Amino acid sequence: MLTQAQNDRLTRVGPGTPMGELMRRYWHPIAGSVQLNEEEPTKEVRLLGEDLVLFRSTKGKLGLVEPSCPHRKANLSYGVPEPEGIRCAYHGWVFDETGACVDQPSEPAGSRFKEKVKIKAYKVEELGGLIFAYMGPEPAPLLPRWDILVWPGIRSATSVMLPCNWLQCHENSLDPLHFQWLHRYYGGWVMHRRMPKEERDAWNAQTLAKGDDHRKIGFELTSYGIIKRRVVGDDTEDEENWKLGHPILFPHILRNGATLQYRIPVDDTHTDHLVFTYRRLQDGEETNEVVPFENISPYWPGTTRFRDDYVRGQDQTAWAIQGAICDRTTEHLGVTDVGLIMFRRLLEQQMKVVEDGGEPMNTYRDPAENEIHVFPVERFTYPGYDGFTGGPFLSDTPRKPDVEAILSGEGAGLKE
Ligand code: FES
Ligand SMILES: [Fe+2]
Repeated sequence: MLTQAQNDRLTRVGPGTPMGELMRRYWHPIAGSVQLNEEEPTKEVRLLGEDLVLFRSTKGKLGLVEPSCPHRKANLSYGVPEPEGIRCAYHGWVFDETGACVDQPSEPAGSRFKEKVKIKAYKVEELGGLIFAYMGPEPAPLLPRWDILVWPGIRSATSVMLPCNWLQCHENSLDPLHFQWLHRYYGGWVMHRRMPKEERDAWNAQTLAKGDDHRKIGFELTSYGIIKRRVVGDDTEDEENWKLGHPILFPHILRNGATLQYRIPVDDTHTDHLVFTYRRLQDGEETNEVVPFENISPYWPGTTRFRDDYVRGQDQTAWAIQGAICDRTTEHLGVTDVGLIMFRRLLEQQMKVVEDGGEPMNTYRDPAENEIHVFPVERFTYPGYDGFTGGPFLSDTPRKPDVEAILSGEGAGLKE
């Protein structure tokens, strides 16, 4: 249980809030590269409680600026892209990607008025077919080159806008137990609700390797975040679920399977669940330079009920039905929630680092260090390590988790 003040500190992401300031030290994906094209050269974006306009000039430069033209306040998402920037629809002032006003066609020739006009602009970079923004203080850290964003492969991305706070979405990454219930049990029930119990249980028993009864969970703090491990069913600690686990990259990314799952704080009550998916190249294939990007509704068509007939939809449902901002002042955490507690403490510690003027974790400034970050992920086949999973991490011995919970052989009362 948290106090209201503690919950506010962890969840409020607007300008000037402790969490907002921490989040502003990181790069956030805000769009797919394919979303800005000749037909749609601008895009309205909301990130960390701020409305912004993303544009691509006809020379190909990306800009991310405040939406209101400083002349008579017309919205620049209606602007026309030009070689030097975006030309306001109303009276033609032009702003470049630094926010500088570079043309005021109706002012007298020789006027230097435009030099006095500047709008807010943020840094934007592209990687892996995604457009990332940085809204923090200069100098910006490097845009992190996570493994699957960088490797040759077939890439795609999806985005789902959810009507809830970012933290309840991402706390799910620290909650391995939900797999057993939300996906195997509830998911099985949703998908097979007309089946008798025995058949449903038979179906559940053969579902997903992570969905068996959890006997042990562990969390290890690393320089880039937290590694989550579990022992399920009759497995031993030699199984990859424990040996490798998978990482939660600080502050808001789950690196799982062949995906990066970003829980991007749009504002206090909206989260963009952006999932980047990677597949290794097969013989004769080449990396797709055009990376498809799809916006997906979280709802069943024509309703406001959340779609729960696929694994990620079940996750999204569970996050959103906690309410717009989960009320942690009345929650009751159990032994299986040790990962959440660890993550909240880490967030609090890192907010303090920023408040004290320091550099938070998992930010990079040395290009050599940022060439590529390869992570341990269970049952993942790594490029260059064909024919088996675990790649370069297979022979690693995990160190003892910083936090763990041992559940009884009966699943700590978790069985029906
Ligand atoms: S409102 Fe933008 S140029 Fe006048
Ligand atoms: Fe899940």
